[in-house]
Amino acid sequence: MVTLEDVKRNSFIDSFIRKGNEYLGVLGFTEHGYRHLNLVASTARQILTQLGYSQREAELAAIAGYLHDIGNAISRNDHGISGALLAFYFLSGMGMPAEELVTVISAIANHEEQYGQPVNSVAAALIVADKSDVHRSRVRNPDFATFDIHDRVNYAVEHAFLTVNSGKRTITMELVIDINICPVMEYFEIFLTRMALCRRAANFLNCDFELIINGSRLL
Ligand SMILES: [Fe+2]
Ligand SMILES: [Fe+2]
Repeated sequence: MVTLEDVKRNSFIDSFIRKGNEYLGVLGFTEHGYRHLNLVASTARQILTQLGYSQREAELAAIAGYLHDIGNAISRNDHGISGALLAFYFLSGMGMPAEELVTVISAIANHEEQYGQPVNSVAAALIVADKSDVHRSRVRNPDFATFDIHDRVNYAVEHAFLTVNSGKRTITMELVIDINICPVMEYFEIFLTRMALCRRAANFLNCDFELIINGSRLL
């Protein structure tokens, strides 16, 4: 069975990850490299594990998490779709069976808020894991004066925690935002559609989604 470790060891895949992150840097986007991918992989795995899904499903979520942004090596536009097709090529070459392949690539294809939907539990876990990674350390622009709204929002986030409560069936995202850098309104300006998608994803996993910013419950 293909594992996350097998995927990480594949130097061919690794080139796509490094190049994709490099191209996003050229376009002025935040960090989408190993930090983001490892975090999304482990968060997606944890979400399913804590909610009692099988170990194998959690492993598939980790693999989808690690590969979800690989389409950026082709183009930022529709990178979910292109990434799914790349992942199909990589993972079928590694011998992943069809049922698992479909699960992983449909999750990758559905992770972007413009067109994504939680079509299965792996997709739902990936959506929540990806959208919860908002943090200061992702900003690559060294010049505060030229920050765009994405830089500002990410830079303003000092702490971001995701907690899963399997008893209460809640997934809670808790943020500490420096409101001198970014008012909470500005966070919502770009994150409203993402939070709506997170709520749908949490609901798919039979959970409520909660959002707490600076101690106030907003969702
Ligand atoms: Fe993405
Ligand atoms: Fe991502």
